[in-house]
Amino acid sequence: MNSSPQLPHHRIATATVVGPGRLGRPLARGLHAAGFRVIGPLGRGESVAPADVVLLCVPDAEIARVAATVPPGIGLIGHMSGATPLAASGADFGLHPLQSFTGDEGHEAFRGIGCAVAGRSPEALAAARELAERLGGRPFEVADAQRAGYHAAASVASNFVVTLLAAAEQLASTAGLTPADARMLLAPLVRTTVANWAELGPEAALTGPIARGDASTVDRQRQAIVEDTPELLVLFDALVASTRALAAKGRVAA
Ligand SMILES: NC(=O)c1ccc[n+]([C@@H]2O[C@H](COP(=O)([O-])OP(=O)(O)OC[C@H]3O[C@@H](n4cnc5c(N)ncnc54)[C@H](OP(=O)(O)O)[C@@H]3O)[C@@H](O)[C@H]2O)c1
Repeated sequence: MNSSPQLPHHRIATATVVGPGRLGRPLARGLHAAGFRVIGPLGRGESVAPADVVLLCVPDAEIARVAATVPPGIGLIGHMSGATPLAASGADFGLHPLQSFTGDEGHEAFRGIGCAVAGRSPEALAAARELAERLGGRPFEVADAQRAGYHAAASVASNFVVTLLAAAEQLASTAGLTPADARMLLAPLVRTTVANWAELGPEAALTGPIARGDASTVDRQRQAIVEDTPELLVLFDALVASTRALAAKGRVAA
């Protein structure tokens, strides 16, 4: 951990961003628009300039190594990883933006998004909160012990949804739809479903044959999968079981 300069709350003026990748570039834009003086994003071999905070936007496996190269006293070090515990990272705080970045996003990309924050000291935690708030995000604290579960939630909400949609695309192809048509036609359904879940919660957002208790329709769907896409059967059966449990929970609550 780096030695911490005295940093009164709401007094972060300068930020050095290390790592000109998918997150580092939009983060630098966001910080600049939020009124910070931004150095970087710095690439490999560029020496880290002193700043109130040094934000490591490098791959998770590189965080501890890069943190160890930051000279003591140069600024509070923050990492941006959802999965990396603070304890072994060499960083003073964690600030994980709960969003998927490709690198081309504008400065507004941080507005309204969750930001998981953690700090080794009250001062470091306050710095993470301040950065998140001034970027327009919504900071919430996640301790190291809770980090793996938190990150699993993010993976389910983002990565696994994509995996499910890829499966939907594959099933749609058995009905003659091209991948592009499947995405165009299914996307409004996906968007409405996500909006309903966000607004109403999972039990109320659940519709379809399982929610209606229509077992014969589910059996026909399963038979089609056995015949056309048997590689999806394990996934389908697991989802039917989980969806039945959710529907039962909804009936109890109703
Ligand atoms: N992208 C997202 O959606 C997202 C969202 C939330 C959090 N994060 C977190 O943000 C961090 C960065 O992820 P990313 O997606 O931006 O990765 P990325 O696109 O792979 O970018 C990583 C950048 O770090 C650079 N780099 C690697 N080692 C370096 C070093 N020693 N010194 C300076 N730069 C170095 C890489 O340069 P080279 O090209 O030369 O290797 C690359 O430009 C990770 O901790 C990740 O968990 C990412």
